Amino acid sequence: MNGGLVQGGTYLVRGGPGTGKTTLGLHFLTTGAANGQQSLFISLAETEARIRRIGQALGLDLSKVDFLDLSQGPQFFAEVQSYDIFSPAEVERQPTTERIVRTVEQIRPKRVFVDPMTQLRYLATHAFQYRQQVLSFLRFLVEHGATVMFTSEASMEAPDADLQFISDGIIELGLDDCSRYVSVTKMRWSAFSPGRHAMNLTDRKMVVFPRLVPQEHGRTFVHEPISSGVHRLISSSMVVWKGARSLLSQDHLVSARPHLGCFSCKRP
Ligand SMILES: Nc1ncnc2c1ncn2[C@@H]1O[C@H](COP(=O)(O)OP(=O)(O)OP(=O)(O)O)[C@@H](O)[C@H]1O
Ligand SMILES: [Mg+2]
Repeated sequence: MNGGLVQGGTYLVRGGPGTGKTTLGLHFLTTGAANGQQSLFISLAETEARIRRIGQALGLDLSKVDFLDLSQGPQFFAEVQSYDIFSPAEVERQPTTERIVRTVEQIRPKRVFVDPMTQLRYLATHAFQYRQQVLSFLRFLVEHGATVMFTSEASMEAPDADLQFISDGIIELGLDDCSRYVSVTKMRWSAFSPGRHAMNLTDRKMVVFPRLVPQEHGRTFVHEPISSGVHRLISSSMVVWKGARSLLSQDHLVSARPHLGCFSCKRP
């Protein structure tokens, strides 16, 4: 990402189920906490206890990370009847917003991870309200000094194009037949290395292997001829350059190869 995230930016982490979105968020928060920054996990799906267990299994120190657990507890099941009279948006929106505002004003976090932001969709009565809500939520966090990372659970029925336009950067996580990958598709104010970069999720946490770009690994070629040791060869049109690899594959040279120090020459 050519230097990383910009302070005060808002970054969307996209990806299918189990691609490592929460793991990336845990890295983001624990790195901040280790540097003495207040770091806050706002969880809208998983309980704090579960996330702390995951962090522990990955060897990430979450002891200095604050949590705001907005996941639904078992009482949700018992109280579900209230939705017969009022919509979920009407019942849940105000208390949820109040808890977020209270916590952020109290903690003043430098890093916030919201997982998943798309859950807020259900607290809005229509798409426009959802977009406005997310925009003002992000603005509220940034104005309180935070850099924000948030995840989306997108599907065909509920795409997340709105979140992609709103965010300052997009990090996509994916899983194909045999490997995991990470790919940056948007980064305001910064260049980035496009394409898929291999990624591993192990008990050694998340490890990324940046894609090698040939142009970034070029070496200057010194045109300095050296002797092959065979007089006729030197005087012929063939020249061996220092540092270069020359393949001798002509039939009439096969028997001479050992003398020239050539190896691995296979005839097609
Ligand atoms: N020790 C480990 N070794 C290998 N893979 C692991 C290990 N721990 C976790 N994983 C992998 O991490 C993935 C889960 O990561 P994570 O919970 O961050 O994904 P997610 O994208 O947040 O998932 P969800 O969409 O369910 O929220 C799982 O697919 C699991 O295979
Ligand atoms: Mg997750």
